[in-house]
Amino acid sequence: MFIGTPLISEEQIQKKVSELAYKITKDYENKDLLVIGILKGAFMFFSDLVRQIKSPLKVDFIIASSYIKDKSSGEVNIHYFPREEIKGKDVLLVEDIIDTGISLQAIREKILSMEPASLKICVLLDKKERRVVEVPIDYLGFSIPNKFIVGYGLDYNEMFRNLPYITIFKKELK
Ligand code: IMP
Ligand code: MG
Repeated sequence: MFIGTPLISEEQIQKKVSELAYKITKDYENKDLLVIGILKGAFMFFSDLVRQIKSPLKVDFIIASSYIKDKSSGEVNIHYFPREEIKGKDVLLVEDIIDTGISLQAIREKILSMEPASLKICVLLDKKERRVVEVPIDYLGFSIPNKFIVGYGLDYNEMFRNLPYITIFKKELK
């Protein structure tokens, strides 16, 4: 399967993942790290990232979907929430992309209400232009233009998640 030319190649992604994992490993020495991936989009980034983090850690997931009613409000539904204890843990949230920020903001608030020792956010892609709510990002892969992209976990209608690179989605290439 091939669609489009890569906006971000497999090599560029893997290099960035290594850099992020190196920073995270240094920052979480002697911490009680719980890495939480936000599904489905983050599944590929999450698994590449945790494989390269050298600190001892536990993993869990959140399954969330968001429905944006208009430009300034959204509703986030959480379908699965971590079973691992969050209170007192150093939590690292891992997300594929931040767009309006509404999903991450809602998930962040929910986790903070459970009193983790700390909470940081790692996001592979940032579409800054589209931000509606500000969310602090501690580890960022790439800033990208305001285009709809697929690949490396990201989908259009559930397709293209398996591409090992990231490309701009063009309907005519479907
Ligand atoms: P936010 O709440 O607007 O920040 O939404 C973020 C979520 O929207 C991500 O977790 C993705 O699932 C999805 N999303 C945003 N932009 C794209 C894109 O360009 N391609 C695929 N999914 C996207
Ligand atoms: Mg997502």
